[in-house]
Amino acid sequence: MKKEKRSSFTGRLGFVLASAASAVGLGNIWRFPYLAAKCGGGIFLLAYIILAVTFGFTLMLTEVAIGRRTRLSCIGAYSALDRRFRPLGWIASSVPAIIVPYYCVIGGWVTKYFCEFAAGNGAAIAADADGYFDRFISAEGSFLNNPMPWFLIFLLLTALCVLSGVDKGIEKLSTFLMPVLLALSIVVAIFSLTRPGAMAGVKYYLLPDFSQFSAMTVLAAMGQLFYSMSIAMGIMVTYGSYMKREDDLERSIGQIELFDTGIAFLAGLMIIPAVFAFSGGDESALGKGPGLMFVTLPRVFADMELGRLIGSLFFLLVLFAALTSAISLLETVVSIVGDKSHWGRRRSTIVVTVCSFALGALSCYGYGSGTIGSLRPFGMAFLDFFDFLSNSVIMPVVAFFTCILVGWVVGARTISSEVELSGPFRRKRMFEVMVRWIAPICLVAVLASSVLENLGYLTYGS
Ligand code: PHE
Repeated sequence: MKKEKRSSFTGRLGFVLASAASAVGLGNIWRFPYLAAKCGGGIFLLAYIILAVTFGFTLMLTEVAIGRRTRLSCIGAYSALDRRFRPLGWIASSVPAIIVPYYCVIGGWVTKYFCEFAAGNGAAIAADADGYFDRFISAEGSFLNNPMPWFLIFLLLTALCVLSGVDKGIEKLSTFLMPVLLALSIVVAIFSLTRPGAMAGVKYYLLPDFSQFSAMTVLAAMGQLFYSMSIAMGIMVTYGSYMKREDDLERSIGQIELFDTGIAFLAGLMIIPAVFAFSGGDESALGKGPGLMFVTLPRVFADMELGRLIGSLFFLLVLFAALTSAISLLETVVSIVGDKSHWGRRRSTIVVTVCSFALGALSCYGYGSGTIGSLRPFGMAFLDFFDFLSNSVIMPVVAFFTCILVGWVVGARTISSEVELSGPFRRKRMFEVMVRWIAPICLVAVLASSVLENLGYLTYGS
């Protein structure tokens, strides 16, 4: 393990930006706002932020430090710390394989919306935004109004980038595009905040209403945290293994979190007030779920002076954010398959892409009225099911055992001393208590409640 020279990021900034490019994706712009809308607004936001700086911080730091210490990616790293934890590496790496297919389905939706806006059809979409989106995802329309070709385009685009190794170029590009996305998000957020009636939405989003608090709020916030920060799936372990010893680990993690949470926060600010403005304050519009971004934003753009331009630009940037994330997901799966099968990169990429296509087709047609749509695992459409399986079941399990491994088997000190190689560890006390006690207890609670809920033993409020 010591002999081999491992390539590393050029500097701390390289590490932070590469991690941010992987972290900022559909999770921030598409998933966060609809969850916040559905789960009580302000109370969800509050729970999310508290969890991000304590729980999320602890988990991300742990993973990066494990990678930096062992200099191995996830499968090797866990077993290098303790052989009994070898399966954990495997379980963690199954997560990207589950996410890739449905991530590309949604990437396809974004591609479609970008093309429609660029072609000037934004206003037509906005006129019947609900119906348009529902017909689209239930695959009722003609070929191009069907999610399948768009899913395929997005998947192939991702595969092509992985295959040709242009991911490095994309990473450079994304360090330029991320700030543009940030700026554009601010413009759109200001616009939607100034719509008549939007203030009710701002209140809903920013003021926590404690009567809306339930276990569901914490459960959803935690699942979102894993997803958005790319934790509990081995990715941050791999990134950590490329990090230099002298780079300040604690500060880097703080910056990645800030960027990731900042974009998610802004996305909520773009979408939630707009929902209030355009539904005349009807709160039931908040329960829209995965379609929220695709239904609400077209209406905002249709109302804007330069709506066509801003709308196209917006969906283009979301597309880029999604693409950089999808590349890092697919890349992970391909490198695992390549390592284990000893196939070349080309062959591994093709095999993984074909499998992702097959699995993704389920999510693609899962909302339709056909045979696939009528199969509802645990009462969920396929896309929601895969999302649930990875975020609410496997990730908490991985995170739980990671905490046990670090807190109780190798000792929290191992991680703290790794962090201290590059400077003082300011949140050390919190980290140690968190990783040994609080995080594992929360994780068991999360897992138990999510499983019980889905088996029908537990029901939450509306
Ligand atoms: N974090 C990404 C998002 O928010 C999703 C992702 C997960 C990307 C894991 C890469 C790895 O969209």
